[in-house]
Amino acid sequence: MKSSAIFILASAVSAAVACSTPARIPLAKKGLSPKGNVGAAYFMSNEPSGNYLISSLIDPEGKLTLWEGLYTGGTGLKGVPGPPVNVLDALFTQGSMVVSQPGKFLANVNAGSNSVTIYAINAQNPAELTIVGKPTWSGGEFPTSLAINKAGNRLCVVNGGAVSGVSCYTVDNRKGLTPIPGALRDLGLNQTTPATGPGNTPGDIIFSEDEKYLIVTIKTGNGYLAIWDVNHDGSLSKNFTKVNGGQLPFSLTPVTGVPGALFASDPGMTAGYTIYNLDGNKLKSPPLTTKIEGQGAVCWSVYSPKSGNYYVTDIRTSNITEVHVEKSLQSHIVKQYSMGYDGPMDSTIVTIGKNDIFYALAANRTGITVLNVAAPGKLDVIQRLDVADPAAAANITLNRLDVQGMAVFLH
Ligand SMILES: *[C@@H]1O[C@H](CO)[C@@H](O)[C@H](O)[C@H]1NC(C)=O
Ligand SMILES: *[C@@H]1O[C@H](CO)[C@@H](O)[C@H](O)[C@H]1NC(C)=O
Ligand SMILES: *[C@@H]1O[C@H](CO)[C@@H](O)[C@H](O)[C@H]1NC(C)=O
Ligand SMILES: *[C@@H]1O[C@H](CO)[C@@H](O)[C@H](O)[C@H]1NC(C)=O
Ligand SMILES: *[C@@H]1O[C@H](CO)[C@@H](O)[C@H](O)[C@H]1NC(C)=O
Repeated sequence: MKSSAIFILASAVSAAVACSTPARIPLAKKGLSPKGNVGAAYFMSNEPSGNYLISSLIDPEGKLTLWEGLYTGGTGLKGVPGPPVNVLDALFTQGSMVVSQPGKFLANVNAGSNSVTIYAINAQNPAELTIVGKPTWSGGEFPTSLAINKAGNRLCVVNGGAVSGVSCYTVDNRKGLTPIPGALRDLGLNQTTPATGPGNTPGDIIFSEDEKYLIVTIKTGNGYLAIWDVNHDGSLSKNFTKVNGGQLPFSLTPVTGVPGALFASDPGMTAGYTIYNLDGNKLKSPPLTTKIEGQGAVCWSVYSPKSGNYYVTDIRTSNITEVHVEKSLQSHIVKQYSMGYDGPMDSTIVTIGKNDIFYALAANRTGITVLNVAAPGKLDVIQRLDVADPAAAANITLNRLDVQGMAVFLH
């Protein structure tokens, strides 16, 4: 009696959830053909009422056409903004969504349901994703960023909430995620769920270039990198090594041509970006922090092979700052570009034909700004895709304070 009542209640609840969260919601004009696309771009709503992926097709010039919204099977969540107040960024991280080209999958965090969802990418129409298996427990609370290895068969997630730490999985794009034994590790942050940030939260998680280390940025004012050894079987060292440096180290972008060097955006009070020079889990030379005058919150970074430069996006001033880094790791600011009221955050640069195309989530407009990296010191807007209006017309809840992520798949 009791158990059947619970069963009825449970199925009523799941039916209600299924009803209010349709799996696929078209955003393209009826009859739009995916023919001729070169890939797809994705971000997510990160809404507490239901997390939706928003996908767009990419044409040969790099321009976007909206395709659909897809329910991730989980919920989003917004961190509690503490000082310095930064109301537009919900997860305080880079890398809440990642794509593996060789693995032909996409993964995202569901910060509100402590899970990770993975999707198989359909080669004919990469904007039409298929969820693989079920969302998998992230091993903690408030999962916010993901790392994948080069082969596309291992994934790690960092949790930044009351249960903070990392967890790694093997990936199979037909079966989904399987936790790796010995790869659930504590980060020991004194946090809440949702986290209060951006201070005292993780900023990004990546594998080192040689994949022997797993590296997480922690923004504490006197920031540090938490670095675990990655064993052959994918398990992690029990403890992490703490490498101090920077103020609020946020993103991590490997410095091209300098093994072990990492470029981190750093929105600390007198910072802008910090460059770390690592040999394994030790510093080869002291970290170099450079100030970006007048910055509000430079939190995301991306590299362009075409210009050979790094770009950091500032969600509060809406500026993109281009930085050149020498082999010696000396660096200088090349140029700043105003993006109006975009509130740019997560970004990806990909090479399409002869062009490097820069996709920036324009959180404050609930859209995507597409730029062409023409040369060093030359960055041109080629498209401003509005997503707010089409999403509203299709009844997908999108909030500029919650949207996250920017990932691209190319054929
Ligand atoms: C943890 O955070 C709470 C709330 O901010 C604070 O009162 C407490 O002292 C902290 N504990 C440690 C061990 O840092
Ligand atoms: C890990 O950290 C704990 C607590 O700080 C310490 O007792 C232990 O010896 C460390 N283990 C290793 C393998 O370094
Ligand atoms: C933003 O970039 C513009 C254009 O280069 C520049 O004039 C302005 O000073 C920058 N603003 C800040 C706050 O850095
Ligand atoms: C967001 O856009 C509004 C105008 O719609 C503007 O007043 C505000 O300054 C923008 N915020 C940021 C952080 O760019
Ligand atoms: C969106 O919701 C409104 C109100 O519930 C409804 O009238 C409308 O048909 C819906 N539109 C779509 C495209 O589902």
